Amino acid sequence: GRCVVAVDGPSGSGKSTVSRRLAAGLDARYLDTGAMYRAVTWAVLRSGVDPADAEAVAKVAGEIDLRIGTDPQGYGVTVDGVAVDADIRGPEVTGAVSAVAAVPAVRALLVARQREMITHAGRIVVEGRDIGSVVAPEAELKVYLTASEVARARRRSAEDAADEAATAADLARRDRLDSTRTADPLQQSADAVVLDTTELGIDEVVARLRELLTE
Ligand code: CDP
Repeated sequence: GRCVVAVDGPSGSGKSTVSRRLAAGLDARYLDTGAMYRAVTWAVLRSGVDPADAEAVAKVAGEIDLRIGTDPQGYGVTVDGVAVDADIRGPEVTGAVSAVAAVPAVRALLVARQREMITHAGRIVVEGRDIGSVVAPEAELKVYLTASEVARARRRSAEDAADEAATAADLARRDRLDSTRTADPLQQSADAVVLDTTELGIDEVVARLRELLTE
């Protein structure tokens, strides 16, 4: 039957790995909404538009053909037919994505797309920052994953093979931008189950979520 699981949380909280594994285990679809904001950012940079120019950013977002798969074992992201899966994880996109995600017209567009995909999915795990609060407030299960700043920076820098101190600074910068922007600042849904993953392994978190689903 229909079942929507909303997994929100900051970078390095483990939400991507946990969400993908949970979706695969449930034989459900998986939607990475962060990848959609990253893909729009990629298109903005490609077109030479200043990420701080909200009007121009909104125009780019409205014009591109953005597609994203929902297979938890490997989903593809394309912009105008170009595969951008690798590029959207790079430092250029990461440096500009918070500015692009702060543009109200971009959020309205992507949230509408996300809701449409959720409607057609049946069973789906949706990962992001505003899923439980804005995109799918009707979700059967809402979780908010957290972890200490040190643990988050350690995980993220290991994933990216990057310097831990630089990663910690980048995470702090994005957390601040994402939570203080005027358009729909990111905040955890009041009815989300909060799970601190600092001391938990991926399998433990996934098992806990499966328990919560059957409760
Ligand atoms: O990979 P990481 O967890 O660092 O971030 P992400 O999930 O790929 O999201 C990248 C950026 O997109 C975030 O820093 C937010 O600015 C924005 N975002 C958002 O505003 N709303 C979402 N539902 C997902 C991402």
